[in-house]
Amino acid sequence: VKTTVSVIKADVGSYPGHSRTHPKLLEVAARMLKEAEGSTIIDSYVTHCGDDLELIMTHTKGEDNEEIHELAWNVFLECAKIAKEMKLYGAGQDLLADAFSGNVKGMGPGVAEMEFEERGSDPLLVFMADKTEPGAWNYFLYKIFADPFSTSGLVIDPSMHQGFTFEVHDVMEKRRIRFNTPEESYSLLAYIGAPSRYVIKYVWKKDGTIAASTSTQRLNMMAGRYVGKDDPVMVIRAQSGLPSVGEVIDPFRTPILVAGWMRGSHHGPFMPVGVCDANCTQFDGPPRVVCLGFQVSNGKLIGPADMFDDPAFNRVRDRCCELSDVLRAHGPFEPHRLSLEEMEYTTLPGVEKQFKDRWEDLPE
Ligand code: 13P
Ligand code: 13P
Ligand code: MG
Ligand code: MG
Ligand code: MG
Ligand code: MG
Repeated sequence: VKTTVSVIKADVGSYPGHSRTHPKLLEVAARMLKEAEGSTIIDSYVTHCGDDLELIMTHTKGEDNEEIHELAWNVFLECAKIAKEMKLYGAGQDLLADAFSGNVKGMGPGVAEMEFEERGSDPLLVFMADKTEPGAWNYFLYKIFADPFSTSGLVIDPSMHQGFTFEVHDVMEKRRIRFNTPEESYSLLAYIGAPSRYVIKYVWKKDGTIAASTSTQRLNMMAGRYVGKDDPVMVIRAQSGLPSVGEVIDPFRTPILVAGWMRGSHHGPFMPVGVCDANCTQFDGPPRVVCLGFQVSNGKLIGPADMFDDPAFNRVRDRCCELSDVLRAHGPFEPHRLSLEEMEYTTLPGVEKQFKDRWEDLPE
């Protein structure tokens, strides 16, 4: 029987502002999932990254299972109810919100799932981010599964030497395409280098073994309007023909810039942190990522290990702070502020509307 890992997340309210999930919500979510263990699910772990409540669940029901998704939804509804009572900020925010919170992105829960036959030993890494979008994983997934200067196993491990297959989603046109690496690496990069539109959804070994799965909820369409950026999650299996745990997390030592941060409208450095530091503070950020490591054993989650709670990641955090200084100095200017195309999905059009009648045509 196969094991399924489902990571489902939503921002259902936070304090203060958009900085962190309240411990009461974590407690209630953990209890509700614990009660479902043995019936709907096998095992669970609840955590947060910034203001996003993260439900990690294992079961045998496969991807997109109604019971699992309903369980997650009910947890979010219950937590949103408590958040409303406490008047937490953006209570119910990602549940097709009634409280508008500065941008119209991210209005539904995010989901990353994978089903697999457990190997003799199955290391699993769950990545959870706040204040960015699903395309933020593109750079790292390429480094992990296709860059031989990052993952030495691509070169020296005969069981990885043949490369990987990537599935890319176009979140504007709602279509998908697969690329094989190393032979089509340049073609893959042509698309995933534009992470606001092209998002890696899955990575497999060429024999079909699932290696990585991400949330791509940026494609949510609501009321005919584009709304769906969401602080993303990602699940990666490691070792034995897949990149090692160390090869999976090493790329996060490079401080790349991602879209999100304040009001979902700015580029900022992506900072790997331990869960103890997974609170978005400075300018509502900077964008953060946590990684919990587990061993999966007959559906049980052995762990977690807090992978970025580690002095080996101190220097990238310092470099993120330096980049933050450089970007923040731009104030409301690009490229700190997102491009106009991206700003269409923020609150800026509301400002432009106020001036639409004051513009005059220039004489010929
Ligand atoms: P150990 O000898 O510590 O088990 O390390 C094996 C390895 O391959 C590390 O990447
Ligand atoms: P979240 O998507 O994390 O709620 O962020 C919203 C925001 O506007 C932060 O400034
Ligand atoms: Mg929020
Ligand atoms: Mg448990
Ligand atoms: Mg968030
Ligand atoms: Mg969000």
